[in-house]
Amino acid sequence: MASKLVYGIDVGTTKVVAIVGRADGRRGWTEVLSLGEVPSHGLRRGMVVDREAATESVAAAIEDCGGFPRGVPVTVGIAGGHISSFNTEVTLLNRARNRTITGRFRKRLETEARQMHVGEDEKVIHVVPRSFVLDGAEGVTQPVGLAARKVTMRAHVVAGAISSIQNLLGAVEDCGVKVSQVVLEPLASSEACLLDEDRSMGVAIIDMGGGTTDIATFMRGALTHTDVIPLGGESFSADVAYGLKIPFETADALKLRYGTVLSHDIDDVAAVKLDDKHYNARFISQILEYRAYEVLEFARDSMEKAGVRNLLPGGAVLTGGGSLLEGMDELAEKVLGMRTRIATPRRVKGESVPVRKPQYSTAVGLLYFAAKNGDSASKSKGARIASFGSIVSAVKEWFGFFGEDGPEGAVRDKPGAGGRS
Ligand SMILES: Nc1ncnc2c1ncn2[C@@H]1O[C@H](COP(=O)(O)OP(=O)(O)OP(=O)(O)O)[C@@H](O)[C@H]1O
Ligand SMILES: [Mg+2]
Repeated sequence: MASKLVYGIDVGTTKVVAIVGRADGRRGWTEVLSLGEVPSHGLRRGMVVDREAATESVAAAIEDCGGFPRGVPVTVGIAGGHISSFNTEVTLLNRARNRTITGRFRKRLETEARQMHVGEDEKVIHVVPRSFVLDGAEGVTQPVGLAARKVTMRAHVVAGAISSIQNLLGAVEDCGVKVSQVVLEPLASSEACLLDEDRSMGVAIIDMGGGTTDIATFMRGALTHTDVIPLGGESFSADVAYGLKIPFETADALKLRYGTVLSHDIDDVAAVKLDDKHYNARFISQILEYRAYEVLEFARDSMEKAGVRNLLPGGAVLTGGGSLLEGMDELAEKVLGMRTRIATPRRVKGESVPVRKPQYSTAVGLLYFAAKNGDSASKSKGARIASFGSIVSAVKEWFGFFGEDGPEGAVRDKPGAGGRS
């Protein structure tokens, strides 16, 4: 499994990345063999708003990557304001004669949680087990092989709007590949940037993209909270454009060249120059700082509301292109009240493709998910014909319509009981 080629597509708000490589499913290492990147069109705040434009961007990214085999399984990142998440638990009775919990039984717990009633227009994207309770005994992380009759799985569930998911799947599958799974972007980024030690200690990853700022927190190795804030680097540039009454592109270029969120460091009368025009540097940085404060306050409040903010001794890890704005880590320390660092993908083998940049965290993380999922080109050899129209089957597949043994004896919490975030 480790040596097979795996494919990912990160459909970001500002860029689409197509990536091919190898990865160790246990997160030991990744090797990126090729990466294609093009500006993204047809997306707003992480969601597809123009299917044709989005499809063209995805196709261009795939081409830039050197092309994907037809029908190949790809892992796709998802974010956007339509994402919701909550903690819940599912209990099933283990009817095996010898009481031993099998991998199949564990799967049934996950299936049960997947079928949990979320909003009418929502579907579950991830069920991430946090811990298990075996006949009343708490704190089990690996239940398979242990004996118990009554098994409770505590899990973090991530759901998204069916139509938004379908639009993303459609845009990708129109390019002749097959979506094998959809992964919440901050989860992908955390696979790339965090070590198991970070997750054991307790850590927050904050992926500051172009359209959204995504959060994931971990405690004792388990995912405890996820959130998507519909603000990102583009909001910063838009503010500068508005404040200076200049086009977005000019504002974006000023931000990239001179941007800082530490306005007190800038001389009151300092001017910066772009295309023979001068702009007040202090004013620009004040605008950026104001917006950065707001985004970081949202992140802080999100963690506070979920009750995890004071349980993160590992601090905050910033990634995504937006984290490159000068002084962002310093400001984050102040606003979040925790140790903060900027992270790029780790444990990347070789240097042939330079991916050690915060904006590639999601794409690199997708390779780990693809490897873990067992995606492989060989599996799809028979499916050389274009996979147009396979959207429905893909949706069914990863929505978990497994159709196997019914959830006998199931006891379920209503979503929200665990504190919907
Ligand atoms: N050096 C830099 N300084 C400041 N901002 C930067 C820098 N480099 C990139 N950015 C900003 O980062 C943002 C893009 O980040 P990224 O590539 O992670 O987003 P994305 O994946 O396309 O979007 P999303 O994840 O929100 O869908 C843009 O707003 C860009 O202006
Ligand atoms: Mg992104």
